[in-house]
Amino acid sequence: MRKKIVAGNWKMNLDYTSGMSLISEVLNMVNDEVRGDQEVIVCPPAVLVYSVAQLAKGNPKVSVGAQNCHEAESGAFTGEISASQIKSVGAQYVILGHSERRQYFGETNELLAKKTDAVLKNGLKPIFCIGETLEERNQNIHFQLIKDQLAEGVFHLSAEEFAKVVLAYEPVWAIGTGVTASPEQAQEVHEFIRKEVAAKYGEEVAEDTTILYGGSCNPKNAADLFAQKDIDGGLIGGASLKSRDFTDIITKFNK
Ligand code: PGA
Repeated sequence: MRKKIVAGNWKMNLDYTSGMSLISEVLNMVNDEVRGDQEVIVCPPAVLVYSVAQLAKGNPKVSVGAQNCHEAESGAFTGEISASQIKSVGAQYVILGHSERRQYFGETNELLAKKTDAVLKNGLKPIFCIGETLEERNQNIHFQLIKDQLAEGVFHLSAEEFAKVVLAYEPVWAIGTGVTASPEQAQEVHEFIRKEVAAKYGEEVAEDTTILYGGSCNPKNAADLFAQKDIDGGLIGGASLKSRDFTDIITKFNK
């Protein structure tokens, strides 16, 4: 059975004090709302991962992730953070290939394949983001683009390794814009992604793969999105910064 996941991506928001308040509120609120087949993941900025993980440690329903890592094990890479360092402070996940990383930091599928390897090698799980810009959608090349992002970013993995990957479809035009993909638009792409996974790794692996939707997901639209057959939860940006909104989204699974 594939897991239902709601993951919060805090991006470069909150300082130590406000981050600690937010995670404390989330931990207090989620307990009764998270079913056995669900997981909540909180991805704070790197400097807060340790403190957030310390607080979340006693809660089996809440995991912690980083938002990026370097592809090397260690070395002279000033300002960077390795997967083993992230692992050592208590995280379980790393978001990879977020469109902001691709756009502002020039991350390519080739680099992301290396980061994926580093994450898995260190016993962490990648939340691997894929998705098209509005221009790419208007040119009707989004399916091909997503196919390439998968093929070049994660399809070099063995089936056993791939089973640890969470995918996140995040149409770039919906991120932080308040314009969300319609449930039908999102479902169409999620179904395509699952078919690609099935073609590469077989039906069973594809059925077990968690595919999150991300892009202006909020308490109002989450239920309709999560009701789609191939949408297994959300990667939440803006709405993950408010404990009530974030925990409300967690309650929107009806399947
Ligand atoms: P948003 O961001 O929910 O603020 O649109 C989603 C994301 O970038 O992960």
